[in-house]
Amino acid sequence: MINTANHPLLPINLFEYEQRAKSHLSQMAFDYYSSGAWDEVTLRDNRTAFDRIKLLPRMLVDVSKRDLKVTVLGQTLQLPLIVAPMAFQCLAHESGEVATAKAAAYSGAGMILSTLSTKSIEEVAATNNSTDSLRWFQLYIHKDKGLTRALVERAFAAGYKALCLTVDAPMLGQRERDKRNEFVLPSGLHLANLTNMSGLDIPHYSGESGLFAYFAEQLSPSVTWHDLEWLQSLSPLPLVVKGILRADDAANAAKCGAKAIIVSNHGGRQLDSAIASIEALPDIVAAVDNDAAVLVDGGIRRGVDILKALAYGADCVLIGRPILWGLALNGEAGVVHVIELLRAELDLAMALSGCTCIQDIDSSLVRYNHS
Ligand code: FNR
Ligand code: LAC
Repeated sequence: MINTANHPLLPINLFEYEQRAKSHLSQMAFDYYSSGAWDEVTLRDNRTAFDRIKLLPRMLVDVSKRDLKVTVLGQTLQLPLIVAPMAFQCLAHESGEVATAKAAAYSGAGMILSTLSTKSIEEVAATNNSTDSLRWFQLYIHKDKGLTRALVERAFAAGYKALCLTVDAPMLGQRERDKRNEFVLPSGLHLANLTNMSGLDIPHYSGESGLFAYFAEQLSPSVTWHDLEWLQSLSPLPLVVKGILRADDAANAAKCGAKAIIVSNHGGRQLDSAIASIEALPDIVAAVDNDAAVLVDGGIRRGVDILKALAYGADCVLIGRPILWGLALNGEAGVVHVIELLRAELDLAMALSGCTCIQDIDSSLVRYNHS
């Protein structure tokens, strides 16, 4: 592990990471990673919604010691951060998801591996350098139910601790830059979980993103609440439902047995004009009423954003794109540094708002201005 701490030439925040990553990536890869759907209204809103939330810091608290530990589905994390599932990480760095997994474990953060990863379920599991690191598998349900079952069985056998079903993508959102680029994986990169097992790959498609075509051809657009029971019968893994924005859907997911709900609009990549996930969070926390854990992602770029999300009642947050920027710049060490920046910012934000531990971050700290 390269020690990257405080090197003067390193980015000092996640925005600088994005700027710098651009020159380390092909245009096709940068566009795929950074895009949102259609006019990218939700993508922008995910950020601006955080800026509208104002804090009411508490003074004259002894904050000389701070503890950022949190427990999610029975597992302890050193900070309330899980790396979001993201496809095709080898576009950023040859070690791809393996480097991300090692960095997350090293940092005491969690990681969710995408179905559409460029390193396999087993390759990523083999990097486990700490038996209690939080690692979940994200599932896309293919039309081929046998294939879907095999993925779940492989994830369970390899030691993943939960199954994270993404429910906001019955079809892929239209990212116009990908359509313009006719997005396809460069030669040598494949769907590591699928190509060997089933021959599936991202097709080249004239005038369309190959990933958009893959979703239309291979993934099931007919998944409903009834399928959650089937899914839970395939393995003993706890079910996490990702991509919920409505309080009624969240309550229903908990009723159907989900142990955690991830409030998410897929980083603004699915339905454009969907609500910013942080704005959807408070109603969902109220509706779920502790029947399941509640996590949130979308636009979190500062430690103080994590503090806001926790004050709104989230148990933990997911971070997406900045992890890819870290990976592009410096592989495993880059991801460690991105997480380290967020840890330092959250730690400082806690000190400045009178919080010594995660439980101190309560709803009295935030005032939301909806205008
Ligand atoms: C994603 N996301 C995603 N989600 C999922 O469930 N399965 C997946 O394979 C992917 N793939 C993916 C690729 C890329 C390049 C991005 C940027 C995102 C969505 C992801 O898990 C998460 O919800 C968002 O990225 C969170 O928003 P931020 O932090 O990127 O703003
Ligand atoms: C994406 C898919 C793979 O957002 O979830 O690109």
